[in-house]
Amino acid sequence: MQGRLAGRIAVITGAASGIGQATALRFAAEGARLALVDRDEAGLRTLAASLGAAGAEVDVQSGDVAEEATVERHRDAILARFGGIDVLFAAAGFSSGTSAPDTTLAAWDAVIRTNLTGSFLWSRAALAPMRSARSGSIILVGSQLAFAGGRANAAYLAAKGGVVSLMQSLAVDHAPEGIRVNAVIPGAIDTPMLRRSFARAAEPAAAEARSVARHPLGRLGRPEEVAEAVLFLASDAASFTTGACLRVDGGWLAG
Ligand SMILES: NC(=O)c1ccc[n+]([C@@H]2O[C@H](COP(=O)([O-])OP(=O)(O)OC[C@H]3O[C@@H](n4cnc5c(N)ncnc54)[C@H](O)[C@@H]3O)[C@@H](O)[C@H]2O)c1
Repeated sequence: MQGRLAGRIAVITGAASGIGQATALRFAAEGARLALVDRDEAGLRTLAASLGAAGAEVDVQSGDVAEEATVERHRDAILARFGGIDVLFAAAGFSSGTSAPDTTLAAWDAVIRTNLTGSFLWSRAALAPMRSARSGSIILVGSQLAFAGGRANAAYLAAKGGVVSLMQSLAVDHAPEGIRVNAVIPGAIDTPMLRRSFARAAEPAAAEARSVARHPLGRLGRPEEVAEAVLFLASDAASFTTGACLRVDGGWLAG
């Protein structure tokens, strides 16, 4: 198979929907061998079937990215099948959409565990084979809100700020081993997660209009546009890029 990721083994978490799914499709088109992880088993199987029909080599692992034993089991199964991990894109995440007084400890834990702990557990799992191979690319997912702030999303903003700091820590620690670690920083991207957050607003249409207007480019982003940036960071085209936050935010943070 030809392509910018020809023969590379790529693990994508949160692959059943949105940005993770768009990235799986993009990576497959570039010749990657894919291990897709999500807690939505039916969504994973649907995606894997269409990728397989198009000729891609695909493994699926369904479960929670925030459970240590599950992540280790998935990692071992992926290594048994493919023999290594070249790329990790850790996209599993969600937001709760509440301010601190309205956030129960259980809701706080759920958001921190998926977005931050899940990024840590999967990075740690992928680092073992990457360190042996002395090469690899890890891409985490931050958010424009981690830099700009935002209302009524306390746990999510805290988690995404943590993801950005985790990315920088990993980038510095593992650069000497030939491993690059970066983050994409999406703006509001039109995915099921964003649609759920609009639906939670008192006036969903007004919330969407405010979000569109907040981007200097005057629209929401598409998951495929984030996937393109992830592909760059995963590929050899980004060979001197590590510790970077690559904004795909329609100008949100510039304005
Ligand atoms: N859509 C946006 O506007 C936006 C903006 C900034 C950042 N992000 C981030 O991008 C990433 C992808 O978001 P999306 O918009 O594509 O969302 P999405 O809801 O469309 O997809 C997220 C996927 O993650 C999976 N998932 C969630 N929790 C999981 C868990 N604990 N274990 C395993 N799988 C789990 C879901 O089942 C789903 O398939 C997230 O990290 C999100 O925070 C999204």
